[in-house]
Amino acid sequence: MTTSFPHESPIMAPSMLKCDYANLQQEIDRLAAANTHWLHWDVMDGHFVPNLSYGALLIESIRAKTKAFFDAHLMISDPARYLDDYIKAGCDAITFHIEAAPDPTEVLKRIRAAGRKAGLAINPGTSPTQIEPFLPMCDLVLLMSVEPGFGGQKFKPEALEKAKYLKPRLAPGTLLSIDGGIGFDTIGLAAAAGCQVFVAGSAIFGEPDYTSAVQNLRRLAGHVG
Ligand code: DX5
Ligand code: ZN
Repeated sequence: MTTSFPHESPIMAPSMLKCDYANLQQEIDRLAAANTHWLHWDVMDGHFVPNLSYGALLIESIRAKTKAFFDAHLMISDPARYLDDYIKAGCDAITFHIEAAPDPTEVLKRIRAAGRKAGLAINPGTSPTQIEPFLPMCDLVLLMSVEPGFGGQKFKPEALEKAKYLKPRLAPGTLLSIDGGIGFDTIGLAAAAGCQVFVAGSAIFGEPDYTSAVQNLRRLAGHVG
């Protein structure tokens, strides 16, 4: 069976990097109550990025607890080596970095062959022309609007030009996602530039009421000018 993207627009993908891990089930329930359908898992290996988070074991243990769409963002070196762990963990979309896999063809094909959505991520310093040849193999393109590795950073507006460049070049059905510094001041700009999936950590988990935070973000993303 092939995973399909949930029907939702605009798509909010809460970045679990910012959640309260001592109360993970409660956090997942609060996000579901806020009407979000995606969970964005930031996997960091302390090598590709200067920070460590969690891996496939943690994601797999949560898989049984929710029907949410699992959006794995692998900030790791050598994604080909670890890919099967994330497939086995039940990730619905698996995104890895072009900077970690200069020829991503095989990994993209393996993700699709496993019936999952294949994503390619691009760092702020990388030209969008580097991922252009691989766009027909992508179900999702993730634009980093901060340097990967940490939540709570300031949005880099250069990502907007990249979004505008890539959007008309995507294959039909490929989603454009943006990650880093997405909040009340920036989500509208990202939506106007063509982004459809909005990864947000601080803007949701930093608010006392997730439901109103998500509603406000969705409303601001809907104002496409
Ligand atoms: C950064 C991660 C992001 C980050 C987003 O490396 O990929 O998903 O946690 O957090 P905020 O929304 O706080 O920038
Ligand atoms: Zn991320």
